[in-house]
Amino acid sequence: MAAKGIGRRNFISTLTAASIAGMVPSGVFAAQSGRQAGKLAALGGQPVRPAFKKWPKWPYVDDRMVEEVVKTTKSGIWSRIQSPVNGAVASFEKQFAGMTGSKYCIGTGSGTQALAICVEALGIGPGDEVITSPYTDFGTISAILTSRALPVLADLDADSYQLDPADVRRKITPATKAIMPVHIMGLPADMDAMMEMAKEFNLKVIEDACQGALARYRGRALGTIGDLGCFSFQASKSIACGEGGAIVGNDESLMDQCYTVHNHGTNRKGKHVAIGPKNRMNEFEAAILNGQLPTATERFRLRNRNAAYLTSKLKGFPGLVPQRQYAGTESGGYYNYAMSYKKEHFHNATRQQFLKALAAEGIALSPYIPNGLHREPWIDHILELDEYKKMFPAARLREYREAARHLSGCDQVCSEMVVLPGSAALIAGTSDMDDVIRAIMKVHAHREQLTSL
Ligand SMILES: Cc1ncc(COP(=O)(O)O)c(C=O)c1O
Repeated sequence: MAAKGIGRRNFISTLTAASIAGMVPSGVFAAQSGRQAGKLAALGGQPVRPAFKKWPKWPYVDDRMVEEVVKTTKSGIWSRIQSPVNGAVASFEKQFAGMTGSKYCIGTGSGTQALAICVEALGIGPGDEVITSPYTDFGTISAILTSRALPVLADLDADSYQLDPADVRRKITPATKAIMPVHIMGLPADMDAMMEMAKEFNLKVIEDACQGALARYRGRALGTIGDLGCFSFQASKSIACGEGGAIVGNDESLMDQCYTVHNHGTNRKGKHVAIGPKNRMNEFEAAILNGQLPTATERFRLRNRNAAYLTSKLKGFPGLVPQRQYAGTESGGYYNYAMSYKKEHFHNATRQQFLKALAAEGIALSPYIPNGLHREPWIDHILELDEYKKMFPAARLREYREAARHLSGCDQVCSEMVVLPGSAALIAGTSDMDDVIRAIMKVHAHREQLTSL
């Protein structure tokens, strides 16, 4: 990169909009230079992206999906137990197991349900602890609370937004039974480190791959590295059916246990043998997925291509730093294309001012999760419940409360995050990606105007 040979601080301070623009192929910036000369759209200038240019619609719908739903409707097979081998759910499970390279798959009603089923099936419950991320959908935490275990929050690596292995290690206690790494944005967590720790401390690993369908790490699909892996097919996800989820795994008896739990404690032979909710995927959800899976890999590849393109354009630009990826990452689910906003490179404008200016240019990025889950009221709620007071020594709960106040990596991530939602935007064309970069660079070029917004 151009910075070679000069100090980083020097390099940054000598950057100009023109030199940053020069870091990317001239075609992109040549086309925008005229517009860049003008004002920010937020201050009356011409927007980079005209309003008539639309992003792909989400959720994705095609004729094959509609046909599958019609077929299921007409068949009268509306519940998986009506056709355990040939129904839509069974067919989805076979396909998704094949796509992830896992031996078994169980469809569920949501990603949250999938995670909660795994916790219960592993025999984790009152008095046990599960270490997970504070930067996730609340479904991750809720899945641990459902079995009345204690969700222990470890801090993040502020560059990858994933669990920091060193803090996970610090958070292990004699009560820890499992780690639940979240592949946030659909990019792989540091699974080498997670699996090593799991081995060392004899812990189970439940991968929260809810955002990471089809992504791969060291030759394996996310969700197939730990003991069990979970996916979400909620409407915003890159493979979607409204609400839906799946568990994948290779251990037959553990997956049978997951089946039993998800089937209100009734096993595959119809015997009522355990405790469990009724969390079965329904045939209509599976029908939508069955219509969608044949083309899902195409869209997955496109997301990865567009993400790599954006990353190449942002290379060396210090104002927005794309999510760090671990060695071993082969591809990502790209639920979001995520970047850290460095305000010092935008004339100290707030992230809100930056996003406002960008939105006026026709590019809507989002701050995503506003607060880490350690800042939400559920912690005080559970600590006041008799059940948690009975299950854990008071000293442990005090220490737990205090530890959850100090997750500075997560706080930093929450304050710097900006995302381009990946499911729809990342299946758009290269010229749409160019619009994103042009808008960012235009706003950067006019950064001294941002603080007046
Ligand atoms: C990382 C993560 N975990 C868990 C979930 C929960 O999945 P669902 O919404 O399908 O219950 C989601 C969904 O947003 C998620 O993004």
